[in-house]
Amino acid sequence: MNIVLLGAPGAGKGTMAQRLVADYGVAHISTGDLLRAAVKGGTELGVQAKQYMDAGELVPDQLVIDLVKERLAADDAQKGFILDGFPRNTVQAVTLDSELSALGRSIDAALLIDVAPEVIIERLSARRTCRACGYTGTAADAVCPSCGGEMYQRDDDKPETIQNRLDVYETATSPLVEYYRGQGLLKSVDGARSIDEVYADVKEALGL
Ligand code: AP5
Repeated sequence: MNIVLLGAPGAGKGTMAQRLVADYGVAHISTGDLLRAAVKGGTELGVQAKQYMDAGELVPDQLVIDLVKERLAADDAQKGFILDGFPRNTVQAVTLDSELSALGRSIDAALLIDVAPEVIIERLSARRTCRACGYTGTAADAVCPSCGGEMYQRDDDKPETIQNRLDVYETATSPLVEYYRGQGLLKSVDGARSIDEVYADVKEALGL
């Protein structure tokens, strides 16, 4: 199971990835999570990435590509992976294809979680993330339902940054829908329903 999750910020990529990983034991490769860990750890990568992330802009391709290459080579990714937040533009998609091909692997499906921008803005403004385990929930979660950790609001979930992330998605990332459709790999689900309903559709679309 080698899957790319596509969708605007807040479409539910992380939420669906968490469920797939729990049910099928594949690796969750979230470039957003990897970059946030680098920022938190104060690494050189984190220092370089932070200014872009805070503004809702894409981090330079090579930094992200190196991160993904490293994760794809890890033991837990050999059984399969869910790519969440990568690729984000055509350069990243073409690089991913050639990296996988060199490893004798390929993408099995690119799943678009389709959600209208007004729903996205509402969701991201309410989103809270667990500092300890990265679980994503809402402002209604006083503590993390998964591990009891502290829930916080991401810096890039402020209203002015959300709009910029949506603009970046439209310009840089949405062309990947046609990229994967052209490869015959595109599947799509309506992401504006309940989490359980969306997950049922995701499994059906992926033939699980
Ligand atoms: P990243 O962390 O990837 O952010 P994103 O794509 O903007 O995605 P999100 O995590 O915001 O949303 P999601 O689709 O995972 O939604 P979620 O499941 O959390 O990237 C952050 C930054 O890092 C980028 O801006 C960029 O700077 C940098 N970056 C990352 N990757 C990069 C790359 N490849 N190249 C360059 N730069 C990169 O759900 C959102 C909320 O909605 C949650 O509260 C959730 O509980 C709720 N929710 C989910 N589904 C439903 C539903 N069906 N009904 C009701 N609520 C729902």
